[in-house]
This record gives sequence, structure tokens and C-alpha cells, in this order.
Amino acid sequence: MLNDLLVIGTGISGLTFAIKVAEQSPKLKITIISKGDMSEGNTRYAQGGIAVVRNLKDDSIEKHIQDTIIAGDGECDSHVVKFVIEEANARLNELINWGAEFDKNKEKLDLGIEGGHSEKRIVHYKDQTGKQIQDVLSKKLKSFPNINLLENHTLVDLITDHHSIEKKGRCYGAYVISQEREEIIKICSKITVLSTGGAGSLYAYSTNPSTATGDGLGAAYRAKVRMDRLAYVQFHPTALRDRVNNNVFLITEAVRGAGGILLNSKKERFMLKIDKRAELAPRDIVAREIHKQIKEQKEDFVWLDGSEIAVDVWKSNFPTIYKTCISQGILLPKDPIPVVPAAHYFCGGIRVNENSESELKGLYAIGECSSTGLHGANRLASNSLLEALVFSHRAAIHSVKSLLNPLPNEEFYKVLPAWNGEGYSKSDTLRNVEKLRKELQKNMTQHVGIFKTHEGLKLAEHKVNKIYIQVSKLYNEKKLTYGLSELRNLVSISYLIIKQAQQIKKNKGVFYIQDYDKKFYKTLQKST
Ligand code: SIN
Repeated sequence: MLNDLLVIGTGISGLTFAIKVAEQSPKLKITIISKGDMSEGNTRYAQGGIAVVRNLKDDSIEKHIQDTIIAGDGECDSHVVKFVIEEANARLNELINWGAEFDKNKEKLDLGIEGGHSEKRIVHYKDQTGKQIQDVLSKKLKSFPNINLLENHTLVDLITDHHSIEKKGRCYGAYVISQEREEIIKICSKITVLSTGGAGSLYAYSTNPSTATGDGLGAAYRAKVRMDRLAYVQFHPTALRDRVNNNVFLITEAVRGAGGILLNSKKERFMLKIDKRAELAPRDIVAREIHKQIKEQKEDFVWLDGSEIAVDVWKSNFPTIYKTCISQGILLPKDPIPVVPAAHYFCGGIRVNENSESELKGLYAIGECSSTGLHGANRLASNSLLEALVFSHRAAIHSVKSLLNPLPNEEFYKVLPAWNGEGYSKSDTLRNVEKLRKELQKNMTQHVGIFKTHEGLKLAEHKVNKIYIQVSKLYNEKKLTYGLSELRNLVSISYLIIKQAQQIKKNKGVFYIQDYDKKFYKTLQKST
């Protein structure tokens, strides 16, 4: 069956997009796929909220624009920043009309504050904003008969001219692993939309679920779609180090907004010396300083002290964090929380225009996998859910209109080939895959993390090339497995991050090369 629209990913962007298209055009055939259960993506784990100017007495659109541009450290596209922030209220109101609830203070929305914001403007639902939105959107999506939801379907590759005899310069859908059918299926579509998130799994510690393997980014790279700003990988300053499960758990910036302070092992409030905004400086500055303190103090973490936050506030505003800490033996508010920075968000991705169209006709990208120009070199806290709402709205309007243009006919799609590899194997028995994934993570964490050096990038490149050779061998000689498909994407994205990092000639936002001190930088400029 030929789809009008194929949406890949069921976070806030993919769901909002599909709902908006289905509302405008009940006759269009829409298929939406999710990698696992439809609710298990990054959106669900977003704790903080959505940045929207609501209090016009103290706040203004101009202030939010300025905060975004300052955080983005000279790399934002100011035109994009302006329209996203101007459209914020309209998009938030729609979400509320669809049934999303946000915390209120008397009759008005309660507004929180996070790093880099000069005013309170974070609309939130406890520490479960993402879950609240995900649940509302998932329920609404299921009410549209023209949306076909396929859970447990994983993107392998986009279908493009590479797979076609006739070259029309478009994207024609995707090859997808169907866990149910245990095969790779072809899903043809006039329009394809990637809303597949980032690739936090590249790093040893990440606030993302382990399924965040940049499947859309990897597929777009293989389809030769332009990508930019990939070296701007944002680390969230505060993730609870869970020693039992050897992973991390996000502690929202809203905790610092509510009065949480950061202390080193000598119990010094170190952020006061670094920035006048202290713990509420933009997250690149806070994450870098935490990393430095950890190294200097030869500790594994710093402390987030929330003892000034009343126990009732912990329980009502941060119930998930409260419960998680208790389960780890951390008794809030008395006990401080051990925190480390963790890979959190890709500020760059697939280059898109103001309607979220990529440079490949028929392919849109929305949400974290896209690079819109809003975030520049460092995303301002709680601007990501906002970006997702604004761009999925714009993409929905634009893509429906674009279906009126002349497009390939049904026959064209019918003759596109089925997946031409050796096929798919359900059993993930390729022992090397897990080992290579761990090696890749170690390499990226060690050399391509918060602090980088030119030498480290060279070493990382060398290692990635070696891993790439082994992955290609597995890909060419064995049946594709779910794990191998993820690894193939992770290797490609590592390579791109390193190559793009080597081209950046100045430290900006989240991007920090240690050898770019002023003297070194001047010599470098002269020699280039
Ligand atoms: C947080 O709650 O601190 C994360 C929100 C965001 O990444 O914007």
C-alpha cells in the first residue's frame, strides 16, 4: 500500500505532526512507526518543561529571544529564533486544548526557571512534563482512523534514487525491521518524516534511553542528506549517578531553579566563582565546571544540595526524582544528590528549512534529529519541546500542500525493490556487536566528550575507522540484526561528529577544545 505520509518516531514531534495532518486531511493515508512501544522515547523522559512567555508583566518575547541567542553563543539563526518564540503560545494552547495538563498557581500556569533564562517561563507538569505530553498525544493519535500505527518497527534505511532505476531525486519511504514479522519490510510513501531523536547512546552516560541510537541520522547520512552542527552535543549538568545499575537518571534543572545548589567534595559552592548566574548559568558552562571539579577533586561526582527545598515541594513538584532518590538511599531534602554531567541532546542534525524540509525532496525532519538553527551551539533549557511543537505544525501544513505537486505515480513505487541485503536475523547473536558498541562508547566518552583536544580527536577518528571496518564486514557478510543496525548508525554519527568537530575553529557553546587557548588559536588562524 502506498502511504501519503510515513512518520518515523513517536515522540512529541512525530505524534504532533501525524495528529495535525490527520486533523486537516482525514482522507490521507498516514503510517507512523515506533521502534518499541510507542511511548518509549526521549519525550517521555523530559522532566523540565516547555519555555513559553506567559507573564507579560515581567517577561517578553524579546527577553526569551535574547536568552536563546546568548545560550546559543553566536550560532543561532535569529530569524528562526524569532518565529519559534513568537509562535510558542499558539502551539502551547493547542496542546492544552488537546488535554495536556500543566501545573497551576491559582488560575494561572505555574512558571518555573531553568539555566540561561532571565525570567520564569517554564510551563511544566511536576517532573513529568514529557510523560504528560506523551500520554495525551498517544491517546489522541489512536482516535484517527486514517493513522496506521506500527509499534516495534525500526528504521534501517531510507528509500531513495540509490534503490531506483528511474531517478527522481526524492525520498520514497523506508526499509524497516518489523519485529513481529521478523523481516525487513518496504514502506513506500510520498512524504517521509524523520522524528527519530538523537544518539545519546554514543556516550557511556546519557539521560536518553538506550534506544537513542540516531537511526534517522544514520539513515540520512547514508542517503547523502546534508547535516550540520553535529559536533554540538549537549551534556546535561546534573544526572544522578546510579551505582547499582551503572547508569544515570536525569535531575531536572528545575531543581536548581527551585533553590538546589552545587557543592564540591570540600562543600564549596563552586559555581559562584564561575558565573554571576551561578547554578542557573546556561548548561554548557555548568556542565564544564562540574566536569572540571570532578577531575580536580579526583572524585566521581559533585553534590547537588537541595536541602533548602522543603520536603513538600520535593514530593509535589519532583515526585519521580524524590522516589528515585529514596530508592537509592538518598533521603531528600537532607541528603545531597551525587551528580555527573551526561550526554543529553544533539543541537545539530539534519539541516532543514523553516518548514522542516530537508535538502532531499519528500523528506522532512523534526525534533532532535533536525538542525533548524534554533539552538545554535548550545540549546537553552526547555526550548526543545517548544521547537518540536512549532516545527511539527509548520511541517504538517507544508507537507500536505506539497502533496498537490506532481509526484511519482503508484506504479513507480510498486517497482521499487524489496530489501536487497541477505535479510534479517532476529537472534542478536553477533557477539562482536555488543563489544564494538562498548568500544565506540568508550572512545567517544574519552575523546569526544565535554573537553576535547586535537590529538584526542585524531585518536578517536582512528579508532572509529577501525570499528567502521569491522562493522562493514559484519554488515556485508552476515544477516542484518537489530543490534547491528543500531551500531551501523552509531559508527556513522561518531565519524560525522569527529569530522565536523575538526572543522570548528573556535570554542562555542557546548563545543570546547582545550588547546584553543587564545595564543594557540591565533597561531592556528595565521597558519590557515
Ligand atoms: C531538564 O529538565 O533539565 C531538561 C529539560 C531540557 O533538556 O530542556
